[in-house]
Amino acid sequence: MPKVSDVPHLGKAIMEAIERGAPDVDLATLPNLTDMSADKLTENVIAVNAGTPNPRQKFVLAALVRHMHAFVKEVGLTPEEWMHGLEFLTKTGQMCTDIRQEFILLSDIFGVSALVDTLNHPKPEGATEATILGPFFVEDAREVPNGGEIAGEESGQPMLVKGRILDMAGNPIPNCLIETWETDEDGYYDTQRSGESGYVQDCRGRLYSDADGNYAFRCVMPVPYPIPNDGPVGQLLRGMNRHVFRPAHLHMMFIADGFEKLVTALYFKGDIFLSSDAVFGVKSSLVEDPKMVTDAAEARKAGFKKDQFLLCARDFVLITTEQAAEELVKAKAKAAEEAKAKA
Ligand SMILES: [Fe+2]
Repeated sequence: MPKVSDVPHLGKAIMEAIERGAPDVDLATLPNLTDMSADKLTENVIAVNAGTPNPRQKFVLAALVRHMHAFVKEVGLTPEEWMHGLEFLTKTGQMCTDIRQEFILLSDIFGVSALVDTLNHPKPEGATEATILGPFFVEDAREVPNGGEIAGEESGQPMLVKGRILDMAGNPIPNCLIETWETDEDGYYDTQRSGESGYVQDCRGRLYSDADGNYAFRCVMPVPYPIPNDGPVGQLLRGMNRHVFRPAHLHMMFIADGFEKLVTALYFKGDIFLSSDAVFGVKSSLVEDPKMVTDAAEARKAGFKKDQFLLCARDFVLITTEQAAEELVKAKAKAAEEAKAKA
């Protein structure tokens, strides 16, 4: 059977589309798509997609079609609801700019970001858990010395965060790059404050662990904040009567040679939003309870001008890239086993 372009008298529009890159297929290789009953339709779409050369893409698309069709059937989607959904997605796209990603936010509030993160970064017992990156990380944070300051004391309640970066055997990881960022005491990131005066970096920085894996930096106690809620996702949350708040947290990222990059955050005991984070980022192993230090001499020693500060002592345990690969294989095998048991 010839390809489409071999068929005579097909018309200019078709020939021009093929010239511009539309696939020129052999029609004999395609399934017959004339039975559009609800049962046959799903099968037909998967069959016509089966020519996808990338096997992973083919697998993902087949599952996507299966789940989308099952969803439409399960809820009995009406044409009005279908159009309403499309209009919502259109508005979500229109809300996106260079600094606003409404689709990630949508993924966040449905727990998809947290699920992708959890499934792809399984950790063995004893390793520090990962959590979502969030939208406020910047690539070019200023470097501060180990023990230095990432936030001015005027930006909030002073806090010293210190501890060690360790491997699973308890050995120190020297020269580990630590990126950290947080809100000021008003609940804003510096990137949200770049108004007329331009962007001024505050409440973020990068440093390196020392030869014994020690790290320390001065920051401020972050506070809870709302996720962006002036767009379609905010409207959706209002429609579901869900709040839009995140508990206070200190973002941290660790990068060391031979180790899996760890993106995580510390949360703080007593926060009113700790158990209802709008984007599902809290893991109980990441909750800390900083202690108030009121010794002025200690405050001076740590580098604070004020006489008291919060002390958050926390070690982080990284896994090697080999350990990370092993954990992923184990987690996938377990998931496949569970899926099999359910089927
Ligand atoms: Fe955040």
